[in-house]
Amino acid sequence: MCGIVGYVGKQQAAPILLDGLAKLEYRGYDSAGIAVENGEGIHVVKAQGKLMVLREKVSHTTLSGTIGIGHTRWATHGAPSDVNSHPHLSGDGAVAVVHNGIIENYQQIKEELLAKGYVFHSETDSETVAHLLDDFLKQGYDFLESVFLMLDRIEGAYALEMICRQEPGTIIAARKNCPLVVGKGEGENYLASDVPALLHHTRDVYFLEDGEVAVVTAQQIHLFNHDRQEVHRDLFHVEWSVDAAEKGGYDHFMIKEIHEQPRIVEELFNHRVDLEKGDIRMEGIELTKETLEKLSRIYVVACGTAYHAGLYGKYLMEKICRIPVVADVASEFRYKAPILDEHTLVIVVSQSGETADTLEALRIAKRHHARVLAIVNTVGSSIAREADDVFYILAGPEISVASTKAFTAQALSLAMICCHMALELGRMTKEEFRTICQDWSAMPRQISELLKQSAIEEALAKKYAQSKNVFYIGRGLDYLVSMESSLKLKEIAYLHSEAYAAGELKHGPIAMIEDETLVIAMLTQKALYEKTLSNIKEVKARGAKVIAITMAGDTEAKKTVEDVIEIPQSSWMMAPLLANVTTQLFAYYVARELGTDIDQPRNLAKSVTVE
Ligand code: F6R
Repeated sequence: MCGIVGYVGKQQAAPILLDGLAKLEYRGYDSAGIAVENGEGIHVVKAQGKLMVLREKVSHTTLSGTIGIGHTRWATHGAPSDVNSHPHLSGDGAVAVVHNGIIENYQQIKEELLAKGYVFHSETDSETVAHLLDDFLKQGYDFLESVFLMLDRIEGAYALEMICRQEPGTIIAARKNCPLVVGKGEGENYLASDVPALLHHTRDVYFLEDGEVAVVTAQQIHLFNHDRQEVHRDLFHVEWSVDAAEKGGYDHFMIKEIHEQPRIVEELFNHRVDLEKGDIRMEGIELTKETLEKLSRIYVVACGTAYHAGLYGKYLMEKICRIPVVADVASEFRYKAPILDEHTLVIVVSQSGETADTLEALRIAKRHHARVLAIVNTVGSSIAREADDVFYILAGPEISVASTKAFTAQALSLAMICCHMALELGRMTKEEFRTICQDWSAMPRQISELLKQSAIEEALAKKYAQSKNVFYIGRGLDYLVSMESSLKLKEIAYLHSEAYAAGELKHGPIAMIEDETLVIAMLTQKALYEKTLSNIKEVKARGAKVIAITMAGDTEAKKTVEDVIEIPQSSWMMAPLLANVTTQLFAYYVARELGTDIDQPRNLAKSVTVE
C-alpha cells in the first residue's frame, strides 16, 4: 500500500521526508510527492515514477521549511500520474493532505463540494479530504475540530496526514484500518505509515489505534480518541531490526500478506457491495441483462494462482448464472483456436497486470472483437490499460513471490462479478444475494480466527515436512482450491505435490499411494462430503496419512484421519477460500521447517513478463 511520512522540527523537512519515503519503497508505489510549509504557504512537489524522479524535481526547487508531509502512492482510484499523486491541496492551497486507504463515500462528498464551487484536479478519492477539510476551516472551525468534522463524514479506510496554513507548525494525523506510527524525537517529531521510515531517527513510537487522531508539533504529541477525548499511552520502544520492521515484525512478507487478508476482504466488501441497492458496485463496467443475454460464452484466462482463482470463478458462473465458461491458462489459450467474436466475454485475471502470456491472450481476444474484462491488482499496469473494463481487487502490493492475498481477493472479485451477472439475468434474487453478503461479511472475522489458531498448521508442518509426496484432494470447489494449495507447497517448500479430484484417484494416481504418503483432503462441500470421505478411506487403506480440512462440528472425519484442521462454519461458496488460508499457512510453515527462501523461491519471479 501507499507509504506516508511526516516531519516537524528544527531541520529542513524535505530531505528527511525523501529519506523516509525511500525507507518505505519496499511497500510498492508508482508515484510520490511531498508538501513543505514555511510560514508563507504550503509548497508541493510530486511526480509519477520512482523516487529519483521526485528527488530530481525537488532539487530544482527551493523547498524550504521545517514541517512537511510525504507520500508514495500505489494507485487505486485514478491511474498513476503527477496530478493523481499526493499530497493534494485544497482549492486555495490552505490545506495539504496525504492519504493511504480508500474513502468509500467520496463520490457523494465530491458532488456536494462541487456544488459549493470546489474544483477537483485529480481522479482520486483522497482529494475529497483536502477540500472537505478546507470547507470546515472556512466555516470558522479550528484545525483539530475541522479534522474531527471531516472524519465524521468520511467512510472507509485511511491513514491521513494533514497540514494547514492557518495553524503552521502542526501536523494532524488520523487512522482507521491503515497503519500509522508517530515517532518521538528531541524537539522534533516524525510520522510514518511504518516503523522502518522512523528507525534512523527514533525508536520511541506511538502506534495509532483505529479511530485515533494525533496532533503533532515539534515539541508535543497529543493523541485523541474518536470521541475527541485525549488518550494517554506509554511510548513503545521498538527493538526490531530494519529488515524485521519492513515486514511489520513478521519473518517474511508471505506471512505478513497472509495476515493482511481479513483487512483486504473487509475493504473489498465495503468498497464493492452496495447493501442498500442489493448489488455490486461495478463502477461503469457494463454487464447488463442485454449484454449478458447476447453472450455465447465466457473465457477466463490467467496463469498460475490467478488461473486457480479463474477456475473458482468459472465454477460459480456456470452454477449460478448458467452461462458456458471456459477457463484456460494463458500460455495455452494464446496458441489454441479459441472461439472469439463480439458475443464472447474474455475475463483475464492478473495480480501484476504485466504477465506476458495473459497480456497476449488479452490482445488476441481484442483482435477478434471479444470484450475483455480484466481483474487486476496493479492500477495502471499494461493489462489494466489495454482491457475494455477493469475490476480492481484492491489487495495492495504483493511482495512475496508466492501469491496469497491476491488469490483470495481475485476469487472474491470473481464471485462478486458472478453475483452481479446473476442478479442482472434474474438468476439470483436480492434475498439470495443478501445471504451471500452475510457470508462475505463474516469472512474477515473467520479468517482472523484461522490466523489465531495457526499453531495447528505449524505443528502439522513439523510433523509432515519430510514427506516425499503430497496429494491434495477434494471435489467441486474443494478440488479447485486443492490445486492452489498444491501449487503453494510446491513453489515455496519445493515439495512434490499434486492436486486431484478425489473421485479421479482410482483412475490412476492411487497407485502412487503407499505407507506415509501425505494426503490433504478438503471436506468443505456438504453435498459432496460422503463421496470425499469414501475417497479418504480408500487412501487410508493403502497406508496414507491424511489431514482433513473440514468445518467445525464435523465429528465423522475425525474418526478416519490422523489430523484435522477445522475451519469456521461457512457456505459452499466461501468455505473453500477459508480452507485455502489454512493451506497457505501449512505451506508457509513447511517451507520454514525446510529452510527455503520463502519470499524469493528459487527459479521464480514475481512478475513473469517474458513468455
Ligand atoms: C503463484 C504465483 C504465480 C502467479 C502467476 C500469474 O503463487 O504467484 O503463479 O499467480 O505468475 O501472475 P499474475 O497474477 O501477476 O498475472
